[in-house]
Amino acid sequence: MKKICVVGVGYVGLVTGACFADLGNSVIALDVDEERIENLKKGILPIYEPGLEELVERNVRSGRLTFTTSYKEAVDGTEFAFIAVGTPSGVNGEADLQYVASAATSIAETMTGPMIIINKSTVPVGTGDWVADIVKRAQPEPVDFWVVSCPEFLREGSAIGDFMSPHRTVLGSLHHEAAEKVAQLHLPLRAPIVITDLRTAEMIKYASNAFLATKISFINEVANICEALGADVKEVAVGMGYDKRIGPMFLDAGLGWGGSCFPKDVLALAYMAEEKGLNPRILNSVMDINYERRKEAVALIEAMTEGVNGKTIGLLGLAFKPNTDDMRDAASVDIAQELTAAGAKVRAFDPVAMDVAGALLPAVEMCPDPYTMSQGCDALMVITEWNEFKQLDLEKIKGLLNSPVIFDGRNIYEPAVMSAMGFKYRGMGRGFNGR
Ligand code: UGA
Repeated sequence: MKKICVVGVGYVGLVTGACFADLGNSVIALDVDEERIENLKKGILPIYEPGLEELVERNVRSGRLTFTTSYKEAVDGTEFAFIAVGTPSGVNGEADLQYVASAATSIAETMTGPMIIINKSTVPVGTGDWVADIVKRAQPEPVDFWVVSCPEFLREGSAIGDFMSPHRTVLGSLHHEAAEKVAQLHLPLRAPIVITDLRTAEMIKYASNAFLATKISFINEVANICEALGADVKEVAVGMGYDKRIGPMFLDAGLGWGGSCFPKDVLALAYMAEEKGLNPRILNSVMDINYERRKEAVALIEAMTEGVNGKTIGLLGLAFKPNTDDMRDAASVDIAQELTAAGAKVRAFDPVAMDVAGALLPAVEMCPDPYTMSQGCDALMVITEWNEFKQLDLEKIKGLLNSPVIFDGRNIYEPAVMSAMGFKYRGMGRGFNGR
């Protein structure tokens, strides 16, 4: 049992804290947002993540997980302090490190004994050295500390499983002994542990996210070529994926990537490269291809409905991906706004994201279920591939729609089946012009 403090109770911090507590450690999770902490004490979570509520509840009940807004309380007698605060994009795409800086300063001001400060947030290469400098300067009295970078590789929607069964743990430090101690904390996870220097660990995180985003933009480019040449990108991906060097994951063509990670991390890596006078051509193309998907989707629905002006379009799904209520950089936002600007009425249904989405998309009418939404729509667009959309009663939907038009931005239906049912249907990258 180790005493751990986690600064920041967003996705990363809360999952990290709850999982380390579940492994038997004593975890105190801190956030400067008093309302968040008060809510957590009452069992109200700031985010939706499958399984997290039960995990938090169980560990709070056992006394292994507590919450505070006081650094003094969190840092006192703690050997490991994880920094898991947000690093949003700044004006030019650079990562905004103000929350990291204030967490490091507050830890430094309150620490009384030797401590390992572990950075979980995705931070620009070189931030670990910068944090060490901040801590050194902010300490009232010199106390020993070591900085370790431990980038997180959790996916929203499967964060607990990803934490408990990671593909690898990456640790970077200038002090091998400190990295070894953090490695001990991760031993129950039984994953390969890569120990390297600070900057390399920070780079591994950016390079991994950028590579995954590249894989998706690559298959989306292939999808466009498939449409032009009459091939089916879904089957192309299956055929490619059996090659172990390629692998089957992250080859789903469609509306592309969004969320809080890929958009900000690809942009930040490109920014870091440009700052050093390099021209990150692949990263720039990866971003261009991604954001074109949203425009292409609107152009396709325009074509399928012979103009959306005055029509009602229903969106199946709003979250940037299934199993989350996260709306950050979700394709639905751009698509809904473009449709509204083009004169369409937009309605939507999402199993969990409608509360969050409502504030972002005031012009969109939120509906209680897919069937109510479909009533009187001129076309549907699949935006997020929630499981519950995969086996909808499509006959019933066809009867509810003004005209049987479906654009499938996530390729969850089969073109031949949809045509046989009498739908005017288009996916992305599936045979001539997606038909
Ligand atoms: C991503 C990484 O997968 C995690 O390893 C990483 O820890 C995390 O960012 C982070 O940096 O915090 P996440 O953003 O939660 O995780 O979501 P993903 O499951 O990776 O999906 C990202 C986007 O790509 C989604 O919009 C999804 O719809 C899209 N996607 C994914 C595709 O369009 N096609 C695919 O084949 C896979």
